[in-house]
Amino acid sequence: MAASFASLEDLLKLANEIHKDEFGSLPVVAACAPGRVNLIGEHVDYCEGYVLPIALPMMTVVVGSRNNSDKCCVITTCDDQSKVEINLKSVVPGEPLWANYVKGVIKFFPGTVPGFNAVFVSSVPIGGGLSSSAALEMSTYTFLEALTGIQAKKEVEKALICQKAEHQFANVPCGIMDQFASLFGSKGHALLIDCRSLDHELVPMDDPSLSICVINSNIRHQLSSSEYPIRRQQCEDACKVLKKKSLRDTTFVELLSAQEIMDPVVFRRAQHVISEIMRTEEAAAALKSRDYAFFGKLMLKSHESLRDLFDVSCKEVDQLVDLAMEFGKKNNDCVLGCRMTGAGFGGCCVALVRKQSVNDLINYIQSHYHGSKPTFYEAYPSSGARILTQMK
Ligand code: GLA
Repeated sequence: MAASFASLEDLLKLANEIHKDEFGSLPVVAACAPGRVNLIGEHVDYCEGYVLPIALPMMTVVVGSRNNSDKCCVITTCDDQSKVEINLKSVVPGEPLWANYVKGVIKFFPGTVPGFNAVFVSSVPIGGGLSSSAALEMSTYTFLEALTGIQAKKEVEKALICQKAEHQFANVPCGIMDQFASLFGSKGHALLIDCRSLDHELVPMDDPSLSICVINSNIRHQLSSSEYPIRRQQCEDACKVLKKKSLRDTTFVELLSAQEIMDPVVFRRAQHVISEIMRTEEAAAALKSRDYAFFGKLMLKSHESLRDLFDVSCKEVDQLVDLAMEFGKKNNDCVLGCRMTGAGFGGCCVALVRKQSVNDLINYIQSHYHGSKPTFYEAYPSSGARILTQMK
């Protein structure tokens, strides 16, 4: 059986109770922002490519109220109910690490932030590659909008400010995909993002006979934090050799003509990025014409490229992908495609599966997988960040 996760109502109830216990009154403001799962377009957002994520039904909820001071008292249940006090006169990164995402958004919020008390609760698995960080940043931003009434001039700015918070306060040089997905995600749609122009388009993904199955390996290899910036650097190195602004502008012919003078590892990284950008364009077109079989094939190709050229998968996730595809082959191709998703080095994979076969797929993986217990979620494209209750 797929795991269940707390609903918005459950999360709100829990957050309200904690707020009342800790601060003596019910909160007056509430906001939420979802995690995301990327369907295709991996490790290309920072190369100005196309990505195609969905916002998840798992989300972070924040409730709170002004406290008429120059301090923010923030509680999360995600880190064994940890509490932090933020002095608004000096907002700087530090311990605990989770608070840096909140602090970064406070720091770069385009308006005066008043002192507040807040409680964060979440159903997004932490550190599983489903963008718990972006959900935390985006819920903080949306909460501040609700608290102050100050709205960004353009919605896109919200995502850029959250990304800046992650870069400067969490020291993660992420692309823009996660923040965009958390902000612009929409029920029944995947989100096609052009990470060069920042144009984004909703693509219907609402076929009731299909299911998006997220399989969390529950493995997180330490490598992820050190290898991510290395991959970014390698893509920039390729651009230098090719004399290009980004790999988005590059063709295979150009890449091949530079092979002799390019480091072989950098060459393979560029091969992945160039092919993945093309695959994502093709996948978006396939989704628009409801050609799910081709969409699934592209997902699998994406996985192979991430595994063999970009070297960001790991044996546990490869095994999950192989088992899912093997089950599909034995059962009328009921698994259309499967791939690792997110930054890699553990975390989750995502499979497109015929709905009636989901439970059998889960049973098959559970009985054949060698490794610590994976968790399964049935995901569906859900709404992006929103204010739930605003200051009167
Ligand atoms: C992380 C980053 C994103 C993106 C993915 C890989 O989730 O936050 O910006 O680069 O990895 O596609």
